[in-house]
Amino acid sequence: MRFSHKIRKLVSGQGLASARKHTLRIFRLNRFPLETKRVIETIDPAAFEQIRRRYAVENPGEHWPKYLDLDRWISINIRRIREIELDLARRRHILDLGCGAGYFLYIAQLLGHSGIGLDVDFVPMFSDVTRLLGVRRVIQRIRAFDPLPDLGAKFDLVTAFMICFNNHKQTNLWGVAEWEFFLDDLARQLAPRGRVWLELNREYDGTFYTPELKTFFQRRGAMVDEHKIIFTSGLPAPALTLPVAR
Ligand SMILES: C[S@@+](CC[C@H](N)C(=O)[O-])C[C@H]1O[C@@H](n2cnc3c(N)ncnc32)[C@H](O)[C@@H]1O
Repeated sequence: MRFSHKIRKLVSGQGLASARKHTLRIFRLNRFPLETKRVIETIDPAAFEQIRRRYAVENPGEHWPKYLDLDRWISINIRRIREIELDLARRRHILDLGCGAGYFLYIAQLLGHSGIGLDVDFVPMFSDVTRLLGVRRVIQRIRAFDPLPDLGAKFDLVTAFMICFNNHKQTNLWGVAEWEFFLDDLARQLAPRGRVWLELNREYDGTFYTPELKTFFQRRGAMVDEHKIIFTSGLPAPALTLPVAR
């Protein structure tokens, strides 16, 4: 890196952010090392092999057995953990909606965080893998205009990756009204200044949301980055996030 670039980076926001990360990393040195191999080594190989034998198929493509590829899915979830900075954060209580095999919460737990996964009980393989990993699951189908159950303690972070509960790839895909109800209700589950990190799936037309839905998320205070909808500090009511008319 050129010296002038280094100086520019140092005095910019980018420099401050990387200095902050560097310092936090030093504080968290005694945490579990976030390496795919090290994470996989913590999973009982004989028990996982039994699950693999029960559900593996040749060339799973986009079908559920694809989640038996530990190398791939542990790497993906380590990337998610890093992007959300759970490797740097103090202890968080996390709710992962549509948790699937539970790898995200499992790695978060290795780092000292706690959490609950919420999912439907449709795929027996997910039930077996989450049980093996010791990831706590609540079985509940998320439905449009239905509140989530009471899950006890409030969450510092709510995540949902590769979201399907919005009726992904179905004719009744959620629009603004469904998302508004969902976010209003989700606010009840959040600790003060809690974060919400949602990642949408691509629909048949190649988009993640309509322009109207994107505007709705932004008005609601989200940072929208392609398929990611990120609320960094609570879920304020829309009136609080709209610009004040003068
Ligand atoms: C594409 S998988 C993603 C799994 C996991 N989040 C990941 O990224 O590895 C979608 C997950 O959402 C769950 N799911 C689908 N519809 C749901 C609904 N209506 N309510 C709750 N979970 C749902 C599925 O059972 C599955 O675990």
